[in-house]
Amino acid sequence: MSSVVVIGTQWGDEGKGKIVDFLAEQANVVVRYQGGNNAGHTVVVNGAEFKLHLLPSGILYSRKTCVVGNGVVIDPAVMLKELKSMQDKGIDTSGLKVSNRAHVIMPYHRLLDEVEEESRGDRKIGTTKRGIGPCYMDKNSRAGIRMVDLMDEEEFCEKLEYNLEAKNHLLKAVYGVEGFDYEQVKQEYLEYARQLKPYVTDTAAVLHAAIKNNEKVLFEGAQATLLDLDHGTYPYVTSSHPIAGGACIGAGVGPTQINKVIGVVKAYTTRVGEGPFPTELQDEIGQTIRERGHEYGTTTGRPRRCGWLDACVVRYAGYVSGIDYMAITRLDILDGLKTLKICTSYKYKGEILNEFPASLKVLAQVEPIYEELPGWDEPTSDIRKYEDLPLNARRYIERLSETSGIGIGIVSVGPGREQTIILENMF
Ligand code: GDP
Ligand code: IMO
Ligand code: MG
Repeated sequence: MSSVVVIGTQWGDEGKGKIVDFLAEQANVVVRYQGGNNAGHTVVVNGAEFKLHLLPSGILYSRKTCVVGNGVVIDPAVMLKELKSMQDKGIDTSGLKVSNRAHVIMPYHRLLDEVEEESRGDRKIGTTKRGIGPCYMDKNSRAGIRMVDLMDEEEFCEKLEYNLEAKNHLLKAVYGVEGFDYEQVKQEYLEYARQLKPYVTDTAAVLHAAIKNNEKVLFEGAQATLLDLDHGTYPYVTSSHPIAGGACIGAGVGPTQINKVIGVVKAYTTRVGEGPFPTELQDEIGQTIRERGHEYGTTTGRPRRCGWLDACVVRYAGYVSGIDYMAITRLDILDGLKTLKICTSYKYKGEILNEFPASLKVLAQVEPIYEELPGWDEPTSDIRKYEDLPLNARRYIERLSETSGIGIGIVSVGPGREQTIILENMF
């Protein structure tokens, strides 16, 4: 048995898709366990770019089992569109298994996401407006519709009727917008059900059998530690659990079945959406990183906020997920910068903070304490051995390792599969 969880350590878009795609070659099963199509994972294979929102990145290999676990919220139209776009590119999608316990994103979830954001005004979260939060709200309030319900016409119609009545009332009375027509939604979703039926199954049982059979399982986190509902920068978070522990709940496997946790760390920091970001660069350097790194969202196209590498964030991610190794990505984007900074601690009201603050008021006011390191001029994207990296590049990532207390497992120097330097075997 060997199973590995890959998670984001920062605010998302660290390059989880690239690392999962790279490791998936050795895996038998690849599993998404939380989030939904708020995720955007870009994978580059032989120069061709694939943007995945809902399907596990393992789908790009033939003969892998790809699981969308119970913890994921599924917009059926998005899943079918993504499947079709893969099939049109000649990709075999027959290995897909979708959990019968996963919750379904309904049209009123998407609309509620929009009107709730609007009504927040200055307090908006900056959500992706994909209906993620409202779908998880229904799951938690025990009103949600699961895949198993969608597959059963009678059950689905009953739950839809009940939900629509409540949601149409809420939309009209609180937000002043029109709701949805029962017949129309019913017909639309029953057609999705028909098309998705072959994939829907008990995925926890599939995983149990795979683990028993000594297969290698790779868990693909979406979003990241600081977007975690409990451990992130609440309320500027998503509504699921991207940390490693989320894999157990969102896939139905026990903690004893997880062997290794890999934290993906972008060599600098980015964030989309609102909320405090201590090392944010609102100057020319931030702009340079954004342009050089094409830091625009995969899902919404929004410009990503850019800043220096924050070791306080990585250290925190390290212990809430028990990270064994870091996979450091996008080192190449920093090539040519004269000097680099790593934030190693936060100062608040003249005192060094020992812990990552829970209070956003505090986080918004901390003063990042930086260590300045010299940059490197040599391009790194063609380097394949750790010892061939420029000395200053090695010093930079080794300093991150020292200050965060996490070992280096992988260094990525480009989006391609081959642009990956391995220091530790993960399976
Ligand atoms: P994810 O959401 O964590 O999977 O990350 P995204 O796919 O949203 O954003 C990461 C972007 O960086 C994608 O376009 C990747 O193809 C790209 N990428 C990943 N690793 C590297 C790297 O080491 N260097 C460069 N230049 N790009 C990378
Ligand atoms: P990947 O998997 C970056 C952010 C949104 C917003 C907050 C809540 O590609 O790393 P939501 O729609 O989830 O309710 O939005 O979370 N967010 C992400 N930011 N990468 C993502 O996914 C994200 N998924 C959600 O921008 O701030
Ligand atoms: Mg992304």
